[in-house]
Order: sequence, then C-alpha cells, then structure tokens
Amino acid sequence: MAKSKFEYVRLFETEDRCLPNSWIVVRVDGKGFHKFSTEHDYEKPNDMRALSLMNKAAASVMEEFKDICLAYGQSDEYSFVFRKETQVYSRRSAKLSTNVCSLFTSAFVYYWSEHFPSSKPLYPPVFDGRTVLYPSNQNIRDYLSWRQADCHINNLYNTTFWALILKAGLTPGEAEQKLKGTLSGDKNEILFSQFSINYNKEPEMLRKGTILVRRKVPVALPDGSGTREKSQVIQLHTDVIGDEFWNENNHLLTIS
Ligand code: GTP
Ligand code: MG
Repeated sequence: MAKSKFEYVRLFETEDRCLPNSWIVVRVDGKGFHKFSTEHDYEKPNDMRALSLMNKAAASVMEEFKDICLAYGQSDEYSFVFRKETQVYSRRSAKLSTNVCSLFTSAFVYYWSEHFPSSKPLYPPVFDGRTVLYPSNQNIRDYLSWRQADCHINNLYNTTFWALILKAGLTPGEAEQKLKGTLSGDKNEILFSQFSINYNKEPEMLRKGTILVRRKVPVALPDGSGTREKSQVIQLHTDVIGDEFWNENNHLLTIS
C-alpha cells in the first residue's frame, strides 16, 4: 500500500536505546506525596499500610517484567533493576520507564482497597519515572547503597522528629530546631534517653527499606506426586551496602 505523504513525521522520533551491557534502573517516585500522605492520613513517620501497598505494586511490576532481577523501595519510591543483557523493548528507555511507571501506578490504585479498606483515594496518585544506566557492578551496588543510606538517614530523622512532636509535645518548628546540626549518634541518644526507643530494634523494613528478589520455592504438584520448583518474588529487608547480601546473591551480578 502506498505510504501517505504524512509518513515523514516518523523521522522526528528519536532513538533512545539504552547502551548495551549496562544495568538499567527505572526509578518511580510519588509526585507530591508529602501532600498525598497527609490528605490520606498516613501514619507518621511510617505507615505500614502505605509501605505494603508500595511493595505490592512493585511485586506486580516484577511479575510482569521478568527481566527485572531486583527492586528496592522506601518511602514513596521504588527502583527496578533490569538484567544487564535484557533485550526487553529493545532497551528503549522511554518504553521501559513509561511501562514500569504506568503499571506501578495502576497497581497502586488497583490494590489500594486491600491496604486501606475504609477509604478511597481522594484523587488519582501520580508517580514520575526515569531510566538511569549504570555500567559497572560497583556502580549498581553504589546506586542501591545510596538509596538505602537515604532510607536510613530519613527514617532516623523522621522517627526522632515525630517522637519529639507526638510524645514530647513539641511543635514541628521546635522539633526541627532541636534536631538542627545533630549527628546520627545524637538522634539515637534522644530516642533512647527521652523515649526509651532503641533505634536498632525498630522494624527492619523501616530502617532498611524493601528488597524484592526472585527465589525458587517448592510448590506441590496437583496430583500430589511431589513438588516442583517455582520462581516467586520475595521480600527482604536486609543490608545491601555491605558484601554479605552480594556474596549470598552472587547470581544477581553475573550474566546468565
Ligand atoms: P516530589 O517527589 O518532588 O513530587 O515531592 P514529594 O512531596 O513526593 O516528596 P519526596 O518524594 O521527597 O518525599 C516523599 C514524602 O512522602 C515524604 O517526605 C513524606 O512526606 C511522604 N511519605 C512517604 N512515606 C510516608 C509514610 O509512610 N508516612 C508518612 N506520614 N508520610 C510518608
Ligand atoms: Mg515523591
């Protein structure tokens, strides 16, 4: 069939294939979640319902995109790491970020009522998405370490900030003033001496965030004759900054 005279406009589309042989990370982040969390009565400083909804939405993304080998989430953000050699969508950056971001957002709304049974979202939540490439194993480890360190710093600050307000009756301004210039040791000390909170005993999900990986688990065969191995997305809340996680999950960094 003859092409229309309008066909040339396709030439305006630019090539956005990600460099071969590099880790592809798609990170999604809630837009204006400071306001969204307040308007939906998220518990302070952490709302387990909201965090488990984020984890559920992220697991949905991993179920759909089998080339995601690991995901890491905290607060209103999730990072998805694609296998270095993935050919999904011919590694086209916008295809990857928009599909991941769109599925994450729709899953967040789809599963909302399972986590917040008594309320509906007051307005449609929005997540932004970006694709970032990391060429070396050290780079991808450092990326994940950066996000986990961010989780630790923010959670220690928020835990202390909200204890000062909710338990000691300070105003937000007073709490901010009290924490100005403090180091993590100081915040640990405030939590322990004023509120008998041992920060290291706070739930790991809050201190370390959530890591999603695939594990082979045995499932029973329907005829009862035994089991077969099935790959499942599981949640971990462990440290990814040190070597232990990477030694135990060596396969993640080796090309399969
Ligand atoms: P943009 O991402 O730039 O649009 O801004 P944002 O308002 O989403 O802020 P940002 O992504 O930097 O930080 C996420 C915000 O979400 C936090 O500052 C909190 O206000 C809020 N938030 C995330 N998780 C929780 C939670 O479990 N409880 C509460 N109370 N707030 C949360
Ligand atoms: Mg945000």
